[in-house]
Amino acid sequence: MDPNSENKKHRTTPEWAQYQRENLWAANEGKVPPFNTDPGKLEERAQEKLTEGGWFYASSNAGQSETHLANRQAFYRHKIVPRMLVDTNKRDTAAEIWGHKVSAPIGFAPIGINKIYNKDGELPVAKVAAELNLPYALSTAGSQPIEAVGKANGNGPRFFQLYMPHDDELTISLLQRAHDSGFTACILTVDTWQLGWRHNDVATSDYAFYYGVGADLGLSDPVFKKRLAAAGIDPVKNPNEAGAFWIDQVWHGRAWSWEKIPWLIRTWKEISGGKPFAIKGVQSVLDAKKCVELGCDGIVVSNHAGRQVDGAIASLDALENIANAVGDKIYIMYDSGIRGAADIFKALALGAKFVFVGRLWVYGLSIMGETGVRHVMKGLLADLDIMFNVAGCQNVGQIDRTWLESHPKGGSLLRERSKI
Ligand code: GLV
Repeated sequence: MDPNSENKKHRTTPEWAQYQRENLWAANEGKVPPFNTDPGKLEERAQEKLTEGGWFYASSNAGQSETHLANRQAFYRHKIVPRMLVDTNKRDTAAEIWGHKVSAPIGFAPIGINKIYNKDGELPVAKVAAELNLPYALSTAGSQPIEAVGKANGNGPRFFQLYMPHDDELTISLLQRAHDSGFTACILTVDTWQLGWRHNDVATSDYAFYYGVGADLGLSDPVFKKRLAAAGIDPVKNPNEAGAFWIDQVWHGRAWSWEKIPWLIRTWKEISGGKPFAIKGVQSVLDAKKCVELGCDGIVVSNHAGRQVDGAIASLDALENIANAVGDKIYIMYDSGIRGAADIFKALALGAKFVFVGRLWVYGLSIMGETGVRHVMKGLLADLDIMFNVAGCQNVGQIDRTWLESHPKGGSLLRERSKI
C-alpha cells in the first residue's frame, strides 16, 4: 500500500486500495476506523442501533428466508481461480454504465424509506454515491422528494426505480420529476405488486407508511396531491391515511402485465429524450427473452434479495441461466445477496455487466449515517481494488467465466449461514 505506488498513473479512478492503508495507519494519528465492515458484524451493529421496527424492515425476508439463503449459497458454489504475476500495477476498477464512466461496476440498489434508518433518509446516501462516483438508484418508495435527492446527488450518475402506479397521470408525473431532477434511466421493478409475507413485520405491525413516515416522495407530487384532495385526505391532519393512500398507489396487490410495457417504454423515452429503460426483478429466461423482444435496454436479474418469493431460485443461478441465453442481446445487471468484492467478481464472471448493492449500505447508514455509508462503500471499493491486485485482474473487461471453478447446483440449505 505504498501511497506513491505507480498504479496511480494508470488509473482513471482513485486508487481505492489506499483506504486499507488509511484505516491501518489511523491509530498513529489517534483515530479509529468507524466500525468493522465484516457483513455479520455490520448486521449486529445495525440491529443494536435501529429500533426493532427499523431492524425488522431492513433484515426481513419472505417466509422462511430460504431465497435469501439460496442467494448466499449460490455464491459459495463458485470459487475464484486467482492468476499470478500479472502486472496489476496497471489495474483500474473503472466501469461504464449507460454512458457514465464510474469508479467500479457497483451501484447503490434502490431501497425505500431510508428515514427509518437515518433521519435524513436518502439524502446522505445520494451524496456519498456522487462523491464516490457510483450510480445511485432512487426507489419510488423513497422518503425524500425526488428533487431533493437529485440535488443531494449533484453531478453524480443517478437512475429512477419505478414502482408503476395504476394511474397513468401519476406515473407520468413521477417520470417527469425524475427526468427534470437529472435521473438518467428508468428501472421498472416487477417483482413487488405487494410485499412478500415477512413474519417479523407482520407480527409487529411494522410498516412505516401506515404510521406517518416515509411517504414524502408521493406527498410532494402534484398529481398525487390532487388525488389526496379528491379523496378528502389532509396529509397534515391525517398522516397515516395519507401515507397509506400513497403506498396503495405503489405496491398494493395490483399487478401489471407485459401489455403495459411498450406504453411505459414509449412514455419514458418521450419524457427523457430516449434515455435507457430496464426491468428489475427478472429471474426466468423466458422473461429475459421477453425483455429483449420488447426492446428494453437492460434487465436487473434480482429476486429482491429474498424479500418477495420464498423458496425461489438463487439470483446468481438465474443470472447464469439468463446470461447464457441472452447475454449477447441485452445489458445484464445483477443484485441480491452481495456481501463483498468476491461476490461482485463472481457475478461479473457469470455474465453481469454491473452489480447493485443494497443491505450493506443500509447497515452502514443505520450505524453511522453519512459516515457509515461512506465507510461501507469505500471499504467495498477497496476490497474490490485489492481483489484485482491479489487475484491478478487488471480491469473489469478481463473478468469472464474462465475465472471461476464451479461446483454443481443443488445441495441443502445451510441454516447456520443465515446471518450473512
Ligand atoms: C421493498 O422494496 C421492500 O423490499 O420492502
